[in-house]
Amino acid sequence: MEKLLQEFSIRSLRLRNRIILPTLDPGFAGEGGRVTSRLIHYFVRRARGGVSFIMVGPAVFDPVGSSGTFEYRIDRNEILEGLSQLIKEIHRCGVPVGLQLHHAGRQANPDLIEGVPVAPSAIPCPVRKSQPRALSIPEIERIIEQYGIFARKAREMGFDAVEVHGSHGYLIAQFLSPFANSRSDSYGGSLENRARLAVQVIREVRRNVGKDFPIFFRLAGEEHVPGGLTVEETPGIARMVEEAGVDVIDVSAGTYRTAEWIVPPMIFPPGCNVYAAQAIKEKVGIPVLVAGRINGPELAEQILQEGKADLISMARGLVADPDLPQKVREGRVGEIRRCIACNECIDRLFQEQPIECTVNPEVGREEEFEIIPAPRPKKVMIIGGGPAGMEAARVARMRGHRVTLWEKEDRLGGRIEAASQTSFKGELKSIPRYYEAVLKALQVEVKLNTPVTPEKIRAFQPDAAVVATGSIPSLPSIPGAHLPHVAQAVDVLLRRVRAEGRVVVIGGGTVGCEVATFLAEKGAKVTIVEMLPYVAHGIPRLLGKMIKDKMREEGVRILTGQKVVQIKEDGVVCEDSGKDHQTELPADRVVLAAGSVSRDDLVEGLSNLCPETQVIGDCRKPRKALEAIYEGAKAGLQI
Ligand SMILES: Cc1cc2nc3c(=O)[nH]c(=O)nc-3n(C[C@H](O)[C@H](O)[C@H](O)COP(=O)(O)OP(=O)(O)OC[C@H]3O[C@@H](n4cnc5c(N)ncnc54)[C@H](O)[C@@H]3O)c2cc1C
Ligand SMILES: Cc1cc2nc3c(=O)[nH]c(=O)nc-3n(C[C@H](O)[C@H](O)[C@H](O)COP(=O)(O)O)c2cc1C
Ligand code: SF4
Repeated sequence: MEKLLQEFSIRSLRLRNRIILPTLDPGFAGEGGRVTSRLIHYFVRRARGGVSFIMVGPAVFDPVGSSGTFEYRIDRNEILEGLSQLIKEIHRCGVPVGLQLHHAGRQANPDLIEGVPVAPSAIPCPVRKSQPRALSIPEIERIIEQYGIFARKAREMGFDAVEVHGSHGYLIAQFLSPFANSRSDSYGGSLENRARLAVQVIREVRRNVGKDFPIFFRLAGEEHVPGGLTVEETPGIARMVEEAGVDVIDVSAGTYRTAEWIVPPMIFPPGCNVYAAQAIKEKVGIPVLVAGRINGPELAEQILQEGKADLISMARGLVADPDLPQKVREGRVGEIRRCIACNECIDRLFQEQPIECTVNPEVGREEEFEIIPAPRPKKVMIIGGGPAGMEAARVARMRGHRVTLWEKEDRLGGRIEAASQTSFKGELKSIPRYYEAVLKALQVEVKLNTPVTPEKIRAFQPDAAVVATGSIPSLPSIPGAHLPHVAQAVDVLLRRVRAEGRVVVIGGGTVGCEVATFLAEKGAKVTIVEMLPYVAHGIPRLLGKMIKDKMREEGVRILTGQKVVQIKEDGVVCEDSGKDHQTELPADRVVLAAGSVSRDDLVEGLSNLCPETQVIGDCRKPRKALEAIYEGAKAGLQI
């Protein structure tokens, strides 16, 4: 990891390595972006993990420029005081910090802004649907002036750099892109005209911040929308803003219409924007920073070694593991907890909620999750080696307890084994890999192939026992559910049962959609039958959208608002939600994806076997890995 750990300079800025935390709004600020103790702890935790630079934001200066609840309204004095405190705390960790300046234009949230959204042209945002008003030339000049004023303010407050947000379909990107700009004056038409606002903003920012102060420019390498910016044009834009005074081109992608490119879910290949960064790097003389599914140091190092970028953004990578840079430095790469690109974090932000992370339960709880040595080391028995049990074992051991983890199968991971079988979900395998490495490093005793019974608990005599035995698939009470051609989705995914020919999948949630895709990719003719009016419920929306596209591509037939009322030897009988119509679907194999029930056989009578007990994860109530890992951590902290 020689290159990744190399120092780097950008004007007055000294970076201790090449890993950067780009702007990622975690949703921990108060109203109008008021800095909270939670926000400070979140950033300080990342600064302590060894990252070289943190860009905070987004910061909005125009009352009609906000796209989200937690954005810092730097036009309000009461917000600035908190930001100064945030800068001070990050600096205390020896990490420089920049501020992203943002104007959402037509992508502004109409419920948050004080007026009508503004844009280059009066073309509604295809996602927000609200009608913007086209900016006049004097209004454009006023916005340019404000970028300068607030960039200067950022410098005066103690920020070490600013970033002008020219990506993700926001105001500057709207001017850059024919997707949003149909002007016929000097701000529309040719590339030079469309780039005029970006160039004028940069010149004004440079005039205000002085010669030695670093300016970043965030640019979509491609927008992936019809008529939008492509890699044919974006290197030219990068060149123009470089000439205007930018020091770093920060390459990302997408607009609200293609938000899956802004925060790419696991179905995208790792490093999905590297090709665009490389194309831009070939045209500019300044450093290029790249973001997008770079969740581990190996790929980051390769990008740098191949000269495709100079700096690496890890947004979700550092949510999942703030200690990633430090672990790279210490040669503990196997112990990195990797972002699986599940998009649970951004899904919460879309709903104006603070983020949570599937794999890192500490996120947003940095204050309370401090791992403090236990007052008295105890003999702890963790039953079940799925995500809940593995996390409980890790945290309990870190607190000094003597921990033994018991697993009935021949490997750790629990349901993650089945969850990682579909072609785009292989990334989930990093969950058990991470725990295997850390549990080994922590010297947790792991007993595989060892089913726990009440007798074993009695014989082991633990001081504390944690039951994390997960769940079993539900067997719906449909006549015919016991027929030999009926199988559980988990058994199909684990290849314990073959499913070929005409397959009917009952249930269109996470498991149903995954098993349908898994089988369709192998050539089966799959139909999903779902009671609800939609499928992919419970899947974060950007991923869900892509899974639905994938199923469409693979020819999966989706029947919603239909209930299977009978399974026959050669098919299933469905009834529509009005109960006035039945249809019969032919099937060689019927696959059940109809939920799970807790595997709680050890729970009853547990308190008679051990003085201190806890029941966690799917065993408590079947949900997701996020809840399982969170409850594992909580259990470990409570023992
Ligand atoms: C196909 C599929 C896809 C999924 N996709 C996702 C996803 O994308 N994102 C997400 O967050 N969640 C997903 N989930 C759900 C997620 O896998 C579970 O919520 C999570 O694994 C629950 O963790 P757990 O540790 O509570 O239980 P489990 O993972 O079920 O682990 C329980 C462990 O206990 C062991 N065990 C049971 N009884 C005993 C015993 N008596 N003695 C010793 N060991 C025992 C089991 O062998 C197992 O290893 C998916 C699930 C499935 C089936
Ligand atoms: C919860 C969340 C909030 C984000 N907020 C911003 C933002 O305010 N401004 C911005 O330019 N990018 C934002 N991003 C995008 C990230 O900076 C980054 O470009 C993207 O997540 C892809 O990089 P990654 O794969 O390393 O996460 C956000 C991403 C997430 C997950
Ligand atoms: S929630 Fe999922 S996508 Fe977001 S940082 Fe955590 S693992 Fe990555």
